[in-house]
Amino acid sequence: MRRLFIAGNWKMNLDRGHSLSLVQGLVESLRGVSNVDIAVCPPAVYLGELGKALHGSNIGLGAQNAYSKPEGAFTGEISCSMLKDVGCRYVILGHSERRAIFGETDQMVNEKLHAVLAAGLTPIVCVGETLQQRENGQTQQVVRSQCVGSLAGLSHDQMLKTVLAYEPVWAIGTGKTATPAQAEEVHQDIRNLLESHFSRETSQNVIILYGGSVKADNAQELLSEPNIDGALVGGASLKLDSFEGIVKAATSIKK
Ligand code: 13P
Repeated sequence: MRRLFIAGNWKMNLDRGHSLSLVQGLVESLRGVSNVDIAVCPPAVYLGELGKALHGSNIGLGAQNAYSKPEGAFTGEISCSMLKDVGCRYVILGHSERRAIFGETDQMVNEKLHAVLAAGLTPIVCVGETLQQRENGQTQQVVRSQCVGSLAGLSHDQMLKTVLAYEPVWAIGTGKTATPAQAEEVHQDIRNLLESHFSRETSQNVIILYGGSVKADNAQELLSEPNIDGALVGGASLKLDSFEGIVKAATSIKK
């Protein structure tokens, strides 16, 4: 049985005061939720303080990136053990913004993925096609190749500990959500790919999130699709009401 998982990716948003009050509000309002996993991924500088505010709650803490090396002369980077040290449980890897703006390749994502898993953290690995790739009929090929490259060398056990997020680039921050059918088609295909690389059982147990303009009013129809196991939420995770609305929509879904 796959549990639904809703994670908020705050990206480079919110100051210290707003971060803290959002987290305190979420702890309060989501206290009773037990059938959905929840996480927030704030900017790295706030992780330590927010980790304390989340301590003992049902909301996990996640980072938006990590470096693959354990320590050393890597100015500006943060290791997985440092993230663990301040209370992180999750790490987003290979977000399309990191791929497009910071030049992250599948190989870099793969190195980071192995480091995150070795540290005992849960990676959330993002894949997704651009609008041009979709219009050229390349969605399946692009997503499959990102998955194969990013997930290289994983054991069955490591694959089961990895969360995937399908985030079509054209749906991120645009208000243009993939239709439930468009998203489900790609999620099903990712599961087919996992079945061929691992096993049917492994493929059926991996959590695959959808991301791209998820809001409280479209969450229910997306999350009702059989192969969509949750959402990676950007803009709508920055406000208490909208993130709460998405989590509450998830709690009502029976699969
Ligand atoms: P939006 O929800 O703002 O479209 O962002 C999605 C995303 O990139 C989450 O990682």
